[in-house]
Amino acid sequence: MDAAIDAGGSCTDVLLAEGRHILVSRTLQGSDAPEASTGVLDEVRERFGIPRRLFVTGARASRVSYKELTLTGVDEMTAIGRGAQRLAEKSTCLAMSMGTGTALVHANGDAYRHLGGTGVGGATLVGLGRLILDEGNPDTLMALARNGDATRVDLTVGDLGYKAVGILTPDDTAANLGKLDSRTPEDLAAAIHTLVGEVVGTVASQAAHRADSPNDIVVLGKPAANPVLRSVLDRVGRLFGTRFTFPDEGSVGVAVGALNEW
Ligand SMILES: Nc1ncnc2c1ncn2[C@@H]1O[C@H](COP(=O)(O)OP(=O)(O)OP(=O)(O)O)[C@@H](O)[C@H]1O
Ligand SMILES: [Mg+2]
Repeated sequence: MDAAIDAGGSCTDVLLAEGRHILVSRTLQGSDAPEASTGVLDEVRERFGIPRRLFVTGARASRVSYKELTLTGVDEMTAIGRGAQRLAEKSTCLAMSMGTGTALVHANGDAYRHLGGTGVGGATLVGLGRLILDEGNPDTLMALARNGDATRVDLTVGDLGYKAVGILTPDDTAANLGKLDSRTPEDLAAAIHTLVGEVVGTVASQAAHRADSPNDIVVLGKPAANPVLRSVLDRVGRLFGTRFTFPDEGSVGVAVGALNEW
């Protein structure tokens, strides 16, 4: 029985696992989330006993400590790649951690190569929601987006008078937020999701082709559970000939990858 903590830019995920069996999965938010993981470990210890080992990763990993347990730091790019390999059961894949921002890691056996990424991610979606709609709850933004139509806000290829141009069809985006025919919260929320999903999906698709893994983009991170973002990514994938996979437990996938055994 081992514990793993991903102290990310926004959230701190605490996992307790026995082999592939996740016994505890808890997510903490807020500025003191890395330190607050101590409380979760206290609870874990009461219920299950002391974990054998504690693995830590993420931008705020250095702020985690726990009593007598020795911490093992895990390189974040390794944790991202290994988490994607484990959850998707693929030894070669393009791991995409869509968290606060977005990181891309090519995983091949036990080699993990950071390919870059983009500063557009979950925090961008929430930041745009706050700026445009005064709404920073991702679940509320998602519920709005489900009832909205981004093509009333985004300029499409068809709006420019094209039937088709290059690889694009009339429904594809020519310019995100380039039309603004509607300003309803639902349509604006849909356009925010479209912008974030299209940027992330395009960057990932191009990287996946370069890495020769177009059919194996494995998406981790909290935003990966968002069905509206998933459908944008699926559409981007059809356009670029790539395929996005959203494994179960992907929202804590980086913590899964930090574990030594799976
Ligand atoms: N359903 C959702 N849809 C979109 N964004 C979401 C959703 N739920 C959470 N987020 C956003 O996702 C981010 C947190 O995701 P996650 O926990 O995967 O990242 P992190 O580990 O904190 O960050 P990083 O890995 O970039 O350091 C936050 O910016 C949060 O606002
Ligand atoms: Mg994380």
